[in-house]
Amino acid sequence: MSAITPAYRIDDLFADRARKIAPPTYGTELTKIITVSLTYGLADPDLFPQADIAAATTAVLTNTAPAVLNYGPTSPQLYEQLSQRLQTQGIRADRDRLLISYGSAQILGLLPDVFIEPGDVVLIEGPSFLGAVGRFFNAGAKVITIPVDELGLDVDAVEATLIDLKKQGIRPRFIYTIPTFHNPTGSTMPLSRRKKLVALAAEYGVLVVEDDAYGDLRFHGESVPSLASLDEEGWVLYVSTFSKTIAPGVRIGWACGDPAIIERLAMFKSEGPVGPFVSHVIAHYCATGKLDTHIQELIAAYRHKCNLMLDAIAREFPSDVIAVKPDGGFFVWCKLPADMSAKAILTAASEHGVTFLPGTRCYANGQGDDAMRLAFSFQPSEKIVEGIATLGSVLREFRKS
Ligand SMILES: Cc1ncc(COP(=O)(O)O)c(C=O)c1O
Repeated sequence: MSAITPAYRIDDLFADRARKIAPPTYGTELTKIITVSLTYGLADPDLFPQADIAAATTAVLTNTAPAVLNYGPTSPQLYEQLSQRLQTQGIRADRDRLLISYGSAQILGLLPDVFIEPGDVVLIEGPSFLGAVGRFFNAGAKVITIPVDELGLDVDAVEATLIDLKKQGIRPRFIYTIPTFHNPTGSTMPLSRRKKLVALAAEYGVLVVEDDAYGDLRFHGESVPSLASLDEEGWVLYVSTFSKTIAPGVRIGWACGDPAIIERLAMFKSEGPVGPFVSHVIAHYCATGKLDTHIQELIAAYRHKCNLMLDAIAREFPSDVIAVKPDGGFFVWCKLPADMSAKAILTAASEHGVTFLPGTRCYANGQGDDAMRLAFSFQPSEKIVEGIATLGSVLREFRKS
């Protein structure tokens, strides 16, 4: 055996996509203890339906422990419950159109397996939920960013892009959109834009992936039909989750759409179906009928927190920082004046123990330093008020310098 050990490196073994993937950066080195994080869209842990989940767990284990603790299929009752919920929202949800997954993030992660070859074109919103978009990039997609305004995705810009791509002989694989209580802007697409988007999808033969993670959490205004409920020709894949309405730790999400897509997503979901234990517990909880009452409680609580944050912003922020008032969801999006940088403000704010998500973390193309996403969902009321007051003084100081 040679005495010289060759300089082998573990990362030389990585596939190209694993070598290229960048660890997340948050635009600032956090050196201080953070007392108020407004960064992440986390559900309020005080609102988890803990007692009811405990009761459902006991009932499931008492009645069916040997079966649910073994390998096995996802609870057929959960499929049934979900199917009924979706049908009441006008979405076709027969069994062959539904796939239950480990969180909706799993479905978003499977999309590249089914749809993307390196170089394929995908349309996304700018800004968007980078947790999803990053996966399209990692698969080598050519990602085209379409602007979002206070009425959601700019559907006229989608049309212009589709026309342009068609001239080049390019058919995009899908359009990823969050039409209701958008992450990060909080905007909701009106019916007219929704109808046009669904019509464009059919005209150009492009799939629309509708991410409806926050759709149940409307605290102002009238509900607007989902894209999936408007879709008669099968060009919408609807994706949602119980993470915001029950608890993210249960990791239950789903996709609903064309059976051929569902079949392929299931084939790439290589660890198999979502386990019987958690799915039976959630099915049992849903069957008690308590979910809808719980959602009403969540809506009241998040409405209160959102109003608290908006009132504090009106009191504390310079008047040229414009907060977008959401009708639901978890976030307030603030547009900054031209002389302010979200990344620089984050660095200064974190020195005072407050963090938020700079807009740059919501764009795939480096834009977004002119906006901040503030999550009101997670922090208790007094911390929201404290955090906004601190951020307000940072913004005013920033203006002076
Ligand atoms: C828009 C959007 N989609 C999907 C997800 C993923 O949710 P989960 O995987 O917990 O279902 C999130 C989580 O924050 C989100 O904001």
